[in-house]
Amino acid sequence: MPGSPFIIVAIDGGAASGKSSTARALSERFNLLHSDTGSYYRAVTAEMLRRGAVPQDLGSVKRALADLRLATRIEGRSARIEISGHLPGDEIRSREVNDAVSHFSAIPELRSSLLAYQRGQAEAARKGGFSGLVMEGRDIGSVIFPDADFRFFLHADPAERERRRVRQGQVDRVAERDRLDSSRKTAPLSLSEGAVSIDTTHMTIAEVAELMAGIIAGQAAKP
Ligand code: DC
Repeated sequence: MPGSPFIIVAIDGGAASGKSSTARALSERFNLLHSDTGSYYRAVTAEMLRRGAVPQDLGSVKRALADLRLATRIEGRSARIEISGHLPGDEIRSREVNDAVSHFSAIPELRSSLLAYQRGQAEAARKGGFSGLVMEGRDIGSVIFPDADFRFFLHADPAERERRRVRQGQVDRVAERDRLDSSRKTAPLSLSEGAVSIDTTHMTIAEVAELMAGIIAGQAAKP
């Protein structure tokens, strides 16, 4: 859409609520840079584990954080994190990372080390010639971009979300991660005021993406 304003779309929600698939669909539809902040927390968690840091020992976490150099590599429409020159791969979806990520993500010092990085993705999107940014996570509409042009909150029945992970071939205790992510003190997963809440339990990804795209294009009423 030449001449249209740069937009920021925030998508928050629990594990396997449909954030990544819908964010990818929107990024293609509106030429947006796609930033999956869950993958950033996962990548930092994998790096913490690699360096022997443990969530219960703040000193070990701070030491490991002190020498992380974060950079962004844009591949297609996806903004990928590089940590100290290394582009993380499939290890960020491993069982070890699934089990540890919510514990590391609850540490305020670790969250602060990703804050400016995440906000900087808007600039990366402008520089890369994108029409905007679609960022998904847990605190995007509440903390990272509270003034985003569009803020969505996706949720789904926990049993359906476990099934989605199994279909993806992953072992992931989604209800347990959600419990930890929602109950932490810093930037918990929560429906922020003004966000459009969508129950995706009985919807296909295409239907959810269509609904969101309609709202962004100004054609659909908010549910
Ligand atoms: O989206 P995901 O399931 O891949 O995210 C993995 C974990 O990262 C999630 O359980 C909590 C954490 N996370 C977070 O704390 N804040 C975000 N904005 C995104 C993810």
